[in-house]
Amino acid sequence: MSLQLWSNCRAATLRSDASGSYGLIEDAALVVQGESLAWVGPRAELPSALLGRCTVHHDAGGALVTPGLIDCHTHLVYGGDRAQEFEMRLNGASYEEISRAGGGIASTVQSTRSASAAELQRSSAKRLEQLMNEGVTTIEIKSGYGLALEHERKMLMVARQLPQCHSVEVRTTFLGMHAIPPEFDGRPDEYVDAVLQMLSTLHNEGLVDAVDGFCERIGFNTQQMERVFAAAKALGLPVKLHAEQLSDSGGAQLASRYGALSCDHLEWLCEDGARAMAEAGTVAVLLPGAYYFLRETRLPPMDLLRRHGVPMAISTDSNPGSSPCTSLLLIMNMACTLFRLTPEEALAGVTRNAARALGLNDRGVLAAGRRADFVLWDAKRPAQLCYALGSNPRLKTVFKGQLV
Ligand code: NIG
Ligand code: FE
Repeated sequence: MSLQLWSNCRAATLRSDASGSYGLIEDAALVVQGESLAWVGPRAELPSALLGRCTVHHDAGGALVTPGLIDCHTHLVYGGDRAQEFEMRLNGASYEEISRAGGGIASTVQSTRSASAAELQRSSAKRLEQLMNEGVTTIEIKSGYGLALEHERKMLMVARQLPQCHSVEVRTTFLGMHAIPPEFDGRPDEYVDAVLQMLSTLHNEGLVDAVDGFCERIGFNTQQMERVFAAAKALGLPVKLHAEQLSDSGGAQLASRYGALSCDHLEWLCEDGARAMAEAGTVAVLLPGAYYFLRETRLPPMDLLRRHGVPMAISTDSNPGSSPCTSLLLIMNMACTLFRLTPEEALAGVTRNAARALGLNDRGVLAAGRRADFVLWDAKRPAQLCYALGSNPRLKTVFKGQLV
């Protein structure tokens, strides 16, 4: 098979075993074989036998190269928008009050149920293109605005079909446990029975990569979540959880007992929760867009996470209610300015640790054997990706070895 060489670049490999910051290699070379990286290192050390087999030479023009960005927590597929609630909040209502009054997630459920698959496909594709324009090559998309079999299926199928016209990989998460739909009002446990049915059907149809839930005062309690996690485990599906976003509900401890890939949000995480996550190897997915947009004041406990060695990822949480955001670069900036992550933590949060939050060990770093998903940036140093607020320095994206 012919090999492709990319040289004249500086590579932020994000390898955790590398000595310097970002795993940075000045004057790097990357050799691509098919969909994978065959070699990554300083150009001067490229074996001449390998160089001799490279039939295509790309000049990266001095660009910075990073792994393809991974947005590991999104609700990208939905109908309608919630600009009106944004206005209500500016007139004094809170996110929780709007939700209790039948707005919030429930209003998006209504618009998503009434949208056709084609309509959802069109609106989601637009949002996806905005993310890809900033170097996203892998994205997780949740269901959770259907809350009934046919509509959850519609959302997951739309998500799964997006790569047919876009050079991106989509991982789908079943989020039937997002809210109680109106037809189950006051009967949460019966709705959980329905979720268990949906999970089994959608899993049999091959539409589910992982299972998520919203463990919260305005979501589900830990007993209800545990029934769904137990079912996921029996099906061999990994779990994750929207945990401790608005209160400390003990969701992190529960999810960790089920070996969760990630716990997400975590503003109210306590030390026991952080310890449980560390022991289970669960990733903390921080969502500064939701913190910013809901004007939360309680920061996730970054020092606790660092102290316990919990890997941190960051993501857009792209959704109509708490984070209508389609810029992962903006989220990296917010992670630094609002959450005080270092630019290196922020970049690891959308590459190496985001891959881990999805249970993917074939990407997220630039190294031989990993997928050839990478981005060329018009940037001298990696911190510029977090620093340059509102600008997009992406030059090119390579997805599975091919220039997009
Ligand atoms: O991740 N917290 C629950 N789910 C979403 C918000 C969904 C919505 O408001 O539509 C989140 O923030
Ligand atoms: Fe979310």
